[in-house]
Amino acid sequence: METILVIGATGMLGEPVAKRLQGNFKIRLFVRDIEKSKKIFGNDYDYIIGDIFNNDSLEKAMNNCYGVHINLSGEIEQAGTEIIVEMAKRKNIQRITYISGTSVCKDTIWFPLEKRKYYAEHAIISSGIPYTIFCPTWFMESLPKYVKGNKAFVFGKQPNLYHFIAVDDYAKMVLTAYQKDEAKNKRFIVHGKEGILFKQALEMYVRERNPSIKSVSVMPYLMAKLVAVIANKREMKEVAALMQFFEKVRELGNPQETYKILGIPEISLEKWIKKQK
Ligand SMILES: NC(=O)c1ccc[n+]([C@@H]2O[C@H](COP(=O)([O-])OP(=O)(O)OC[C@H]3O[C@@H](n4cnc5c(N)ncnc54)[C@H](OP(=O)(O)O)[C@@H]3O)[C@@H](O)[C@H]2O)c1
Repeated sequence: METILVIGATGMLGEPVAKRLQGNFKIRLFVRDIEKSKKIFGNDYDYIIGDIFNNDSLEKAMNNCYGVHINLSGEIEQAGTEIIVEMAKRKNIQRITYISGTSVCKDTIWFPLEKRKYYAEHAIISSGIPYTIFCPTWFMESLPKYVKGNKAFVFGKQPNLYHFIAVDDYAKMVLTAYQKDEAKNKRFIVHGKEGILFKQALEMYVRERNPSIKSVSVMPYLMAKLVAVIANKREMKEVAALMQFFEKVRELGNPQETYKILGIPEISLEKWIKKQK
């Protein structure tokens, strides 16, 4: 059985991928915190403790691997991916998979998050190693982050439709990509089947999961940024900026080729909400 190294497996979107690949492939997890990782994954995985900025640990992790799945976020995403790709070339890795974003393209690199992803993609595409890049829209799993205590809120008016995708459908696509030659050297737009406004999606979520919350508030961007600065909430500032970006740019991309090669998502928002504990 081929070995796939998962980098960023403890991340929200890395964990379900590692778990879905396990069994079909031998999965090696590259982790910084072994205790935290074992609580999530147990003992049936191969672990390498390390950091992408520590060359020796990264080199050891890639020994005898067929593929590397990259699930990074934040400011290290571009530099981290470039380091991983350089090591992958040296270690004769046969396949790289990577999570990017739906609206990543040359026209959107004015926004820092998109710029990091654009250049991370560039490093992968120009490596010569067969790759599959996933470009997902918003995940359904992001919705609970917009509920704090007894309040639910979105930033800005959000007039555009999003095709929320469930992480389990995405993880299935990653597995299929490793199983199909047709998926090599492609970027796949990952969208769910139904378009819905962000606020409506959040309203559906709280109606079922937090019925004591009677309405979803809309926080203007300026107010969100002010609150974030005053209360020193970095994540809030970043999320508000991201939502403002999406309001302007929209959810780009066409998922038809993805549906044809990697399969049609099966989990509707309604079904996903019902499954949440
Ligand atoms: N949420 C959405 O709706 C959405 C939509 C489209 C695309 N995306 C993209 O999906 C990507 C992954 O998201 P996520 O939520 O899974 O991210 P995340 O939860 O922040 O996970 C990041 C992972 O990277 C690991 N990591 C960070 N620095 C590392 C280092 N120096 N060495 C080794 N590992 C390191 C973290 O490990 P530790 O556990 O040790 O910190 C963690 O496992 C992001 O780039 C995001 O932009 C998200």
